[in-house]
Amino acid sequence: MIEHYYTENPKAKNKPRIIRTILRGEELTFETNSSVFSPKEIDKATRLLIEYAPVKEGQKILDLGCGYGAVGVSIAKTAKMEVTMSDVNGRALAMARINSRKNHVNTKIEKSDGFSRIKEKFDAILLNPPHSAGRETCTKLITESKEHLNEKGTLSVVAYHNKGGKYYELLLKRIFLHVETLCKKGGIRVYMGRGFDKEQRKNILVKDER
Ligand SMILES: C[S@@+](CC[C@H](N)C(=O)[O-])C[C@H]1O[C@@H](n2cnc3c(N)ncnc32)[C@H](O)[C@@H]1O
Repeated sequence: MIEHYYTENPKAKNKPRIIRTILRGEELTFETNSSVFSPKEIDKATRLLIEYAPVKEGQKILDLGCGYGAVGVSIAKTAKMEVTMSDVNGRALAMARINSRKNHVNTKIEKSDGFSRIKEKFDAILLNPPHSAGRETCTKLITESKEHLNEKGTLSVVAYHNKGGKYYELLLKRIFLHVETLCKKGGIRVYMGRGFDKEQRKNILVKDER
């Protein structure tokens, strides 16, 4: 069976690697492995999401689809925040746990397909969507996010604008009252949605925009 970075229980031979890098001004070390997303280096889009993440001290943050934990660990390292990291890939979560320890941060780690095992609400949800898993999966992660945001909560999504990003921006506009672009660099954008009303919740029909 072909394995992907979103395979639930990868069986591919372990190929551990170490990435040493600076994120949000902190020197961090990440252990990665085969069958996880971007094992050789921190992905460019991930870096921008980390750099522009709209997060503040004291907030509850969800790193949705955390992979080996670059986003959640670097956020937890730079300010006092309650960070949850979730993913469907068990191997990625094992790495996220190791990387929290390696970088001396406390995070909560949850194996969950989307929000199936996550019941809480957050002040900020950060997502680098799993494009390879298909649009349906990414759409579900985004639409379900809004049910897991506190009233003033934000959802930030990073993508290459011309490779799926435009669709995410439209989708955010269907869900949220306010959508901003937090950064544009090298074709990559970080979109952020916040605020929603009951009427919009009913109208989340995005099929016509595919
Ligand atoms: C593009 S990767 C981003 C990983 C990490 N956030 C980063 O930026 O390095 C997307 C992640 O979403 C995860 N994923 C895919 N489908 C998922 C689902 N249904 N529920 C939760 N996570 C999922 C994948 O396993 C993968 O780790």
